[in-house]
Amino acid sequence: MRDHHRLIARYVATRNEQDPAAREAAIAELWTEDGTYADPLGIARGRDAVAAAMAAAQARFPGLVFALDGRVDVHHDAARFAWRLGVPDGVPGGGRVIVAGTDVATFTGDGRIRGVRSFLDDIRVDIPTSPPESEITMSTILVLGGTGKTGRRIIDRLTARGLDVRAGSRSSDPPFDWADSSTWAPAMQGVDAVYISYYPDLAVPGATQAVGELTRLAVASGVRRLVLLSGRGEEEAQACERIVAAAGVQWTVVRCAWFAQNFSENFFLESVLAGEVALPSGDVPEPFVDVEDIADVAVAALTEDGHNGEIYELTGPRALTLAEAVAEIAAATGRPIRFVPVTPDDFAKALAAEGVPQELTDFLVYLFTTVLTGANASTADGVQRALGREPRDFADYVKETAATGIWNGGPA
Ligand SMILES: NC(=O)c1ccc[n+]([C@@H]2O[C@H](COP(=O)([O-])OP(=O)(O)OC[C@H]3O[C@@H](n4cnc5c(N)ncnc54)[C@H](OP(=O)(O)O)[C@@H]3O)[C@@H](O)[C@H]2O)c1
Repeated sequence: MRDHHRLIARYVATRNEQDPAAREAAIAELWTEDGTYADPLGIARGRDAVAAAMAAAQARFPGLVFALDGRVDVHHDAARFAWRLGVPDGVPGGGRVIVAGTDVATFTGDGRIRGVRSFLDDIRVDIPTSPPESEITMSTILVLGGTGKTGRRIIDRLTARGLDVRAGSRSSDPPFDWADSSTWAPAMQGVDAVYISYYPDLAVPGATQAVGELTRLAVASGVRRLVLLSGRGEEEAQACERIVAAAGVQWTVVRCAWFAQNFSENFFLESVLAGEVALPSGDVPEPFVDVEDIADVAVAALTEDGHNGEIYELTGPRALTLAEAVAEIAAATGRPIRFVPVTPDDFAKALAAEGVPQELTDFLVYLFTTVLTGANASTADGVQRALGREPRDFADYVKETAATGIWNGGPA
């Protein structure tokens, strides 16, 4: 066990070793030949890849030092320890912590490191980026989910400004598919900034890994600014935020309440048209955000200086329950549309009866029972902070959407 403490101390020293030859020699001594290192940005297999991952981390955070943060907890063949990456003492800003995390290392019987799994616990928003914002012009912007609710509005706005915009989705050219990572690099070639809208949701299994790998690839391809569409009240989404914040390029998180447009562009549109919206959580207030506001904030973050390191919580100006939202839509359309509260169980059974795949059913039940619980009922000032104006009210959305005729069966 004493040896394991020594191994962790040497691992930490290796992370700070600036001389490539000395770093590789230390890794050759410390790690098994097929040892692995993984963090949310990717996995390195074998000593050469581990050395390359450590070199890349140093290049991403020049001048910062890695240090143990408390004791090393060892049992059997594993050790767990907290760490921090920060400004070394004795220089301006000395002692300031930029990233904090927890690693778990496993060892072989002969005292070598078999693998390290690194978790990000805390990202400080003033993480250094290179080069400074003012020196960057974003000329080519990739918008993932470019045909979706936020993406297509962002593309319209960027195109109207004469910017070089590329949509990234399965139907775009080149295609971008979250399920096929071989499509990611071609979509990111020559791109300066990426709007990351994951599909279907950052809370589904595999999302954190996909966002981590995409982020790593984006930075390696020369992308200098990332804007992540995230969701309030989802721990998995917040893990993805930490990944983007730790990438070492400029970043902004757009952390959103439920979209008002869920009532008109999917999810609930069919139910509204059928005259009955049967959902759990009918009496839980939610400050629905208008995706027009999300698009304005995302475009500002993609194209303007001054948004680096910001987490913008975007909500509408007031919370209303699903039942109240449906009542406002019914009043605007002049059609009777009922809101029917159901239990999560009955909701799941109804979805199954409609042939909705089990995975999607589980996810929707998760949203209603874990995210739409009232914990996110408070309004937030993200729109005001990002744009210097108030967010649009749900009533504005309802009025404009009713005028398109979509809730009366008209074309979208
Ligand atoms: N809806 C909300 O209330 C809400 C609230 C907070 C956060 N969010 C976040 O917003 C994000 C988008 O959700 P949304 O429901 O609004 O969807 P959306 O953006 O309206 O629509 C889906 C988009 O994703 C693309 N897409 C679908 N499957 C894909 C795949 N396998 N690979 C690449 N692109 C794919 C679609 O284009 P193609 O069909 O051409 O591929 C389309 O552009 C999610 O990450 C969600 O967590 C949503």
